Amino acid sequence: MTVVDDIKTRLDIVDLVSQYVPLQQSGASFKGLCPFHTEKTPSFFVFPNRQTWRCFGACATGGDAFSFYMQKENVDFSQALKGLAQITGVDLPTRRTALKDDSLYKINDAAARFFSRYLASPEGIPARDYVKERGLTQDTVDSFQLGLSPGDGYSLKRHLLSLGYAEGQLALAGLLAQSSDGAYQDLFRRRLMFPIWDPQGRLAGFGGRALDDSNPKYLNSRQGPVFDKGRILFGFHLAQKAIKERGVVVVEGYMDAIVAHQGGFSNVVASMGTSLTRHQAALLQDVTKEVVLALDPDAAGQEATLRSLESSWQVMQRRVMARSQRATLYERPSGPNLKIAPLPQGKDPDEIILENPSHWEQLTTEAVPLMEFLFKALSAKFDLSTAQGKAQVAEMLFPLVAATPDHFEQDRHFRNLAQLLGVSEATLEASIGRPRPQRTRPTGPTTVTATPFERLEKDPLEEYCLALLLQNPRLEPLASDLRPEQFQRVENREVFTNWLQGSTIESLDQGISAHFNYLTGKLLPPSDLKEKEAALSHCIHRLEERHLRQLKVEEGLRLSQMEPEEINQHEKEILKINDDIEALFRSRSV
Ligand code: UTP
Ligand code: MN
Repeated sequence: MTVVDDIKTRLDIVDLVSQYVPLQQSGASFKGLCPFHTEKTPSFFVFPNRQTWRCFGACATGGDAFSFYMQKENVDFSQALKGLAQITGVDLPTRRTALKDDSLYKINDAAARFFSRYLASPEGIPARDYVKERGLTQDTVDSFQLGLSPGDGYSLKRHLLSLGYAEGQLALAGLLAQSSDGAYQDLFRRRLMFPIWDPQGRLAGFGGRALDDSNPKYLNSRQGPVFDKGRILFGFHLAQKAIKERGVVVVEGYMDAIVAHQGGFSNVVASMGTSLTRHQAALLQDVTKEVVLALDPDAAGQEATLRSLESSWQVMQRRVMARSQRATLYERPSGPNLKIAPLPQGKDPDEIILENPSHWEQLTTEAVPLMEFLFKALSAKFDLSTAQGKAQVAEMLFPLVAATPDHFEQDRHFRNLAQLLGVSEATLEASIGRPRPQRTRPTGPTTVTATPFERLEKDPLEEYCLALLLQNPRLEPLASDLRPEQFQRVENREVFTNWLQGSTIESLDQGISAHFNYLTGKLLPPSDLKEKEAALSHCIHRLEERHLRQLKVEEGLRLSQMEPEEINQHEKEILKINDDIEALFRSRSV
């Protein structure tokens, strides 16, 4: 039995809620004044048989004991787990010694020291000249712990072996390359070394730049248990505080970020040359809403850039959606403010900052909202007087418009797009469709319907759905219709929420990481991508149906407890719930 199950069996929702709200029995359920909004007539119900609660009033949310505690105490899942474990007297297992062996970070630390000593040695003179040429001061070299890797291909390995580390560990740390005969050699040879710290400030790996024009220009530590480029933003651990205060500016290159910090722009991080992954977006969105992407103007009109902006936009919007699941009606989180700072032709941020810091300041403060930027960039690139040009622009922008969760905002983008193309909204809608709002309003965190019998059982539908999703990253787009409250079991819901937020496995709580591992390892019948897509769509549809049916059941349960005159009194409210449910059905069946 997992800790979560253990807690659930010992926890009674009526007991728990009663600690916060005086409850009155009314038939098989209990009612009271909703603790999440101010009201005079009780519209807050607790259903002991189902171990759920629901507010039928203004907040229109509901859930289980976990979600009640999380909302009432304003804590996240892992804090709730601690709190509820204490209440129920369940012992939480202490966190296993870090999933990732600490020694890999130590190996990287030792390598960084080795590289920086080598840079400072006589062999480092040409590299030090290069660093100077690029405008870096000694202070910067020291604070970013820049270094140089020897060119012979074995010095680093020999040094680390002499410190007592095993070859296998060095390979796991991502520092070795295997030659064709299977022998391990140093991966980095005569490269300027940039240590890369993870968000927790641990040294996860290196980027190594060639000192001449040789290819590849940069090599990075091998992907492994500690280095995962997609989960790290270069400079983030140094920039975090400044980002909280001023928002973030994202550049592409190591050099750009370093020079920015040297120039006092300490809210700059580097994406390391790729578009933002959902993990990177999650990192940023935890600390800020203001995200400025510095963009090379040559790239601006290119298909690849557009795709990458689209994907950054989507991952950020998605994360907002995940968050809004936890918000109440009144404190709905607004979307990220994603802006673009187009750079002057042919100049990298490092050059601009070294030449004229105030120019950089100006470029980043004058950044324009992504949509506005794209509308301009694309209308300059395509001939909007032709039908073909219009179609191309519409096709490129439509996915972004559709990915905007706030439907007022989405509407505005749709209108602007029609205007840009010089067609009516009706024409645009007829030719390319109209994005349907992804959700009409936040429906609160959860609905759980566990009966006492169901409480210990697994939920095969939810598990199958999650296993498909976790094991097949290519199915991710299908999940945009899925919402946390559609998962009844708290551990599945939590895995899904974490997945949406791009959390790392190490950041997961014990109770959840075990379940996460179980799901990622769950054996699924062999099938091709098409079949998997079909299976997932089917699951999602069924989860949704089930969720809506449960809303109805709770409503019915409540009505069955009411006197006729009470029902009259609440008629308006009840009609509203019906409308909401109907609207939900309608929006799903389009
Ligand atoms: P750039 O080519 O723009 O490099 O790649 P840069 O950082 O401006 O370097 P300089 O100014 O030429 O010295 C941007 C980023 O893309 C990643 C690196 O993180 C780099 O900083 N990249 C680039 C690679 O990982 N491998 C490559 O071969 C090239
Ligand atoms: Mn550059």
